[in-house]
Amino acid sequence: MSIELAPIVDLDEKYRPVTLGDVLGQDAIIEELQEWLESPTSTGMFLEGPTGTGKTSTALALARAIGCDPDDIWGGFTCIPSGEQTADQVRTQLDHLRVCASNSSGWKVLLVEEADRMSEQVGTIWLNALEKRNMPPRRLVIFTTNYPEKIKTRLADRCKRFMFDANPASVKEAADAYVRKIWCGETGQSKNAPDYEAIGDLTDSDGNLSFRRICTHMERILKKWRQEMAKHEYDGMPMIIPFSQGLKPALAKAAKDAKAVKTVQKPVQAKDDKPARSEPARTHVADSREVVLQKIEVDRYDDELAKMGTRFFEIEAAIAKIKSAIKNSKNKEQTAKLKLQLKTLQQEDADLEEQANLVDENLVKAEAKLARLIKSQSKTRNG
Ligand SMILES: Nc1ncnc2c1ncn2[C@@H]1O[C@H](COP(=O)(O)OP(=O)(O)O)[C@@H](O)[C@H]1O
Ligand SMILES: [Mg+2]
Repeated sequence: MSIELAPIVDLDEKYRPVTLGDVLGQDAIIEELQEWLESPTSTGMFLEGPTGTGKTSTALALARAIGCDPDDIWGGFTCIPSGEQTADQVRTQLDHLRVCASNSSGWKVLLVEEADRMSEQVGTIWLNALEKRNMPPRRLVIFTTNYPEKIKTRLADRCKRFMFDANPASVKEAADAYVRKIWCGETGQSKNAPDYEAIGDLTDSDGNLSFRRICTHMERILKKWRQEMAKHEYDGMPMIIPFSQGLKPALAKAAKDAKAVKTVQKPVQAKDDKPARSEPARTHVADSREVVLQKIEVDRYDDELAKMGTRFFEIEAAIAKIKSAIKNSKNKEQTAKLKLQLKTLQQEDADLEEQANLVDENLVKAEAKLARLIKSQSKTRNG
């Protein structure tokens, strides 16, 4: 019997640093950020340097460290992706920053990717927004850029600046550690890791080392390694088959469940005039991989909808509160502020409804697919 190996997918996402401590080769920056975290105050930050050095990863890790989970839609983290920094987009995000955070830390983090692509108008909006007196408390705006020289000094001077190191000589230990980490994670063995200098060209035309390039080369090397391994027939030799994180525990559970209900055919003793007979064996086989995956998909949409539902109620309550505050407000300036907050919340409410409808549609489709898969699974087994 030959074994099937899960494909190697997106090593750069799989091995993206999660915490600040996971970011390799940028010790001085990480230390400074950790110091800032000891008594953080609202600020803007520029993470500068060549591509693939860990700017985005550091921004995400810093957001987590301050209590804004980037993977949670209500975590207080938002992002303006590269190329989408229009004046409207920036104004909308600044409005969102003014609304209270719904996480427990009270912090909100806005990440602006590739911030150098910025019009005059947008530059002026940021200049104004990043003035100390205009920043609400517990707010962090992080800009990333590969071209710090394109950023206006007036803007950069209002922010903390961090220059990421891409010098092959100074990050070589980090590069070596990263290659070993991926090798060990993918092959399950700590020995025989390739020499980082031998895996391929890690630098760009300017001589800057990119960790992303390490991932690309490792994908090729691991693919070859796996092809070699897959040639061997499975002969009881223990072998590491990495699955994606969600699938592994789910499959393990499915297998355990199946084992628990599997009973062996047991003869029943003859009693009085009743003849001895065999109890029918209850057979139960684990769900197929497709069914398990589909169940995970359905659960994911279910979870998402539940989270959205909670947020719906929060928004509704907040809208009611603001409306009554507007009614009672005697101060013009105060009323204007409240109206702005109301508008933002109403927009969020409408956006949320649209998103929820989409998720709901996906859920219905996923459930239908699951039903079909279960039906065809039992057909193959009974047929
Ligand atoms: N300093 C680093 N330490 C560990 N991994 C890194 C580092 N920099 C980059 N990587 C790897 O490269 C990928 C891209 O990194 P990213 O943070 O997006 O780089 P940038 O924003 O500087 O272009 C990450 O997912 C990670 O796998
Ligand atoms: Mg980036």
